[in-house]
Amino acid sequence: MTGFPCKPASQVTSDDFFFSGFTNEANTSSNDFGSFVTPGNVEAFPGLNTLGISMNRVDIAPGGINPPHHHPRASEAGVVVQGQVLVGFVTTAGVYHSRVLAASEMFVIPRGLVHFQLNVGIEKAILITSFNSQLPGSVVAPLALFAAEPSVPDRVLAKSFLVGEDVVRSIKAKFIR
Ligand code: GLV
Ligand code: MN
Repeated sequence: MTGFPCKPASQVTSDDFFFSGFTNEANTSSNDFGSFVTPGNVEAFPGLNTLGISMNRVDIAPGGINPPHHHPRASEAGVVVQGQVLVGFVTTAGVYHSRVLAASEMFVIPRGLVHFQLNVGIEKAILITSFNSQLPGSVVAPLALFAAEPSVPDRVLAKSFLVGEDVVRSIKAKFIR
């Protein structure tokens, strides 16, 4: 659900329209991907409600990745604030588009397409991304397939990736928290 009830006008405050969550440096070692996404969406601050827009801050350690994912409800436009980042996405026709971006360079990911950002530089990378949805949603491919609960059957993944079930189990084991 992306719609939230509107507050009565008498209860609206200035704080509803401002968000300071992007000022903090995120901890990129809290997961094995070496990245962290801080959402600035309607769940983070209510002033976005009904506006159909939102943003993220993405921190990526050197060598780290914001892994392949897609946003079911939004296209994404982003700018690299710091660092060197390989940004890539795959079209519905199976064409891979990518470029290495430096600070102040921008990219766009058309709605629903699988994309990633890999830090290919030697310093920490920071991106600010924006969406034409107040709650774009994010389906992270490796987590959706290998870390869902209840688990997607090993047989389904083995047949889909053309590998043995032992390979599927070894990937799943890496995502056990
Ligand atoms: C980056 O792809 C993001 O979703 O913020
Ligand atoms: Mn994204």
